[in-house]
Amino acid sequence: VLLISITTIVAYLLGSIPTAVWYGQGFFGIDIRQHGSGNAGATNTFRVLGKRAGTIVMLVDVLKGYTAAIMANLLWYLDIITQTEIMTFEIVFGLVAVIGHLYPIFADFKGGKGVASLLGMVLAIHPEMALVCIGIFLLVVIASQYVSLGSILAALAFPILLLLQVFGQKESPLLIVFGFVVFLMVVFTHQKNIGRLMRGQENRTILIRLRKK
Ligand code: G3P
Repeated sequence: VLLISITTIVAYLLGSIPTAVWYGQGFFGIDIRQHGSGNAGATNTFRVLGKRAGTIVMLVDVLKGYTAAIMANLLWYLDIITQTEIMTFEIVFGLVAVIGHLYPIFADFKGGKGVASLLGMVLAIHPEMALVCIGIFLLVVIASQYVSLGSILAALAFPILLLLQVFGQKESPLLIVFGFVVFLMVVFTHQKNIGRLMRGQENRTILIRLRKK
């Protein structure tokens, strides 16, 4: 129990690393949360600070979710949990990291929207499905030019595709419940985006470079 508790805390601290905030402050001397959409995530970093910054923030944020989830495998390796419990703990540690990303202790509890970190944990738990969701995300973003719409629709597709058993295997009920939790979290974190989308005022994926580097 002690090691599981410690791992949960590590997952929260890992998720709490405010990549976008630190990157903006460290390399550009700005707080990303005061520019663009105001979100401390990869999309807004891309929008405000450019391709390179956005890509790095995205990769690190994906890695946070991925690493938190696979810490469950480490606990299994150490014989602390059983093989059947791996997925449960992947979900727990991954979600705790996503909560850290949304409410980071290292950045006044004002973080991002969790899409990249959620993707990272899904990559650890169900890689094939993660790739399909990335495909849906890219199609929607290319067609609509709205990253937020891509995030929301990919998150909606995730539990639906699990329910439809698109890979021909019976998906675990826990995973399906997790799928709906992911969708609800993404809707929760995108409330302002949904409002802007409905008013036709959402930001398109155009680069507004603050400073060239
Ligand atoms: O992953 C976040 C994205 O879906 C929306 O970001 O900055 O446009 O609110 P943003």
